Amino acid sequence: MNSPDTATVARHVAIIMDGNGRWAKRRSLGRVLGHREGIVSLREVIKEAVRSGVRYLTVYAFSTENWGRPAKEVGALMGLMARQLVKEAPDLVSQGVRLRAIGGIDKLPQNVRASLARVEELTRGGQVLDFVLALSYGGRSEICDAVKKLLAKGVAPEDIDEATISANLYAPDIPDPDLVIRTSGEMRLSNFLLWQSAYSEIYFTETLWPDFRAAEFRLALDEYARRTRRFGLTDEQLTGDA
Ligand code: FPP
Repeated sequence: MNSPDTATVARHVAIIMDGNGRWAKRRSLGRVLGHREGIVSLREVIKEAVRSGVRYLTVYAFSTENWGRPAKEVGALMGLMARQLVKEAPDLVSQGVRLRAIGGIDKLPQNVRASLARVEELTRGGQVLDFVLALSYGGRSEICDAVKKLLAKGVAPEDIDEATISANLYAPDIPDPDLVIRTSGEMRLSNFLLWQSAYSEIYFTETLWPDFRAAEFRLALDEYARRTRRFGLTDEQLTGDA
C-alpha cells in the first residue's frame, strides 16, 4: 500500500495552483473563497505526496506579478497565509513535513514573515517531505539574484557556468522538478522555476485548483510514471543499445 516505486515516482513535484478565482466566480462567490478552498486542496495534495513517496513539493502560492492584483485580494491572501500556516503546523510536523519558503520573502508583510519563520522552525526536523512555498517568487528574479550573488562573491566571468548558477538559486540543495503541474487549463509556466524546469515533464489539466484533490494528483503522478524522459538523448542511448 505505502510502497512507492522509486524508479517512477517523481522525486520533486512543482505545482502552479491556478483557477481559484474562476472556481469562486462559477459559484458567485468572492475570489478569496476560492483561495480558501485552494488551501483544502493543498492539504490533500501534501498528504498524497507523502503517501506516494514524493520527496519535494514546491507550490507557486504568490508570484512577483501577483503584487499587481487589487490591494484587497493581496491583503486577504497575505492574511490567509499568515493565519493558516501556523494552524497547519501540527499536521505538518506529524507527517514529517518540513516547510521552506523561496522568493522575495523580504517583500512580504511582517505577519507573513513571522508565521513563515515560526513554522519553518517548528517543522525543521521534518525528513519525509520538503514542502516549498514559492512566495513573491519569480523565476527571472531568482536567476538575477543568483548572478548578483556570484558578482558579490567576486566570481570571475570564466568561472560562471550552469553549476555555479544552480548553486546560487534560492534552494540549491533541492533537485530540479521532475514534474511540473499546472491546473485550470492554462498552458504556460508564468515565470515559475524557469531555470530548474529545463527538463521537467509538464502536466496540464483543466481541473481548477480547488477541485484538484488527492485523486487528481494521483492521475498526474501516474501519467508521469508512464512518460519517458530523454534529456536530449536518443532512445538507444537511454536503453544502452547505442
Ligand atoms: C491562482 O488562482 C492562485 C493564487 C494566486 C493563490 C494560491 C494560493 C493559495 C491556494 C493559498 C496558499 C495558502 C497557504 C497557507 C500556503 P487565481 O486567483 O489566479 O485564479 P484565476 O486564474 O481563476 O483567477
